[in-house]
Amino acid sequence: MEERIISNEADNQDITFEQSLRPQTLRQYIGQTKVKENLEVFIKAAKLRQESLDHVLLYGPPGLGKTTLATIISHEMGVSIRTTSGPAIERPGDLAAILTALEPGDVLFIDEIHRLPRAIEEVLYPAMEDFCLDIVVGSGDSARSIRLDLPPFTLVGATTRAGAISAPLRDRFGVLSRLEFYDVEQLTEIVIRTSEVLSTQIELSAATEIARRSRGTPRIANRLLRRVRDFAQVNGDGTIDIIAANQALEKLQVDRLGLDHIDHKLLKGIIEKFRGGPVGLETISATIGEEAHTIEDVYEPYLLQIGFLQRTPRGRIVTELVYQHFHMEVP
Ligand code: ADE
Repeated sequence: MEERIISNEADNQDITFEQSLRPQTLRQYIGQTKVKENLEVFIKAAKLRQESLDHVLLYGPPGLGKTTLATIISHEMGVSIRTTSGPAIERPGDLAAILTALEPGDVLFIDEIHRLPRAIEEVLYPAMEDFCLDIVVGSGDSARSIRLDLPPFTLVGATTRAGAISAPLRDRFGVLSRLEFYDVEQLTEIVIRTSEVLSTQIELSAATEIARRSRGTPRIANRLLRRVRDFAQVNGDGTIDIIAANQALEKLQVDRLGLDHIDHKLLKGIIEKFRGGPVGLETISATIGEEAHTIEDVYEPYLLQIGFLQRTPRGRIVTELVYQHFHMEVP
């Protein structure tokens, strides 16, 4: 995948930054109102009953705050969080080591849970359902299974592809929450909150402009803010006004809607080579040199959301909005 300022994958700087700036409570968390309101009730109820919270599955495009929400859940429940990811758990023993080290009520966060190997999923089922672990000891004729009791815990799973999760695993989550793209107002609020944490002065219009170009994604908004702040610091006194923001965003080659050269290549490719579509995902992939699943998980969701692309049974088509955006004649 090519480098892009508006990638919604976290780089090292994002991770350090997100860990230090992350909201700690549901109250501090901006947006995702429905998810937040429901979680608030479930957390209160679990606390009243002095039980662990039911298992939670968070799904939606990358960068919308799934890890942040998992951390908030642990804070609100007053328990510790242990974080891992699907591909990091290779053997049943890896999962057993993690589960047996949990304290009662703890949150186990598994990111990219759709990438958990099937053999591990099977160990997870009794752990989620009955808080126990069936382990095979010995081998050959002397192999036998022993059952280990686990402390009650809450599994918080996160995935960008809910469809890739097996039905038996999905059914074991009591709470399924879909995260949505943020609107400009919510992103503006996030940019202002982050500026305060960074002790950076920002004008409302500048914050709104950054929000508009962030593809509905807080991770992108915060990354653009950090880069715009660099420009404002080097070229001026560090205050981000609308002029500084526009100049910096121009230099970063992020257009008015938050699209970059890869989006442009994808959309113009469909127009110029396939007369606007319909064209299949694999063909687009071969044309622009990006992997099909990257196009599907990373680039497409926002283009679908803003109505630039449509999925049809015969493939992807670009809409009139794309021609208008590029000042092209609509065929
Ligand atoms: N920073 C990143 N995402 C956030 C959110 N949803 N609320 C507050 N601050 C954030």
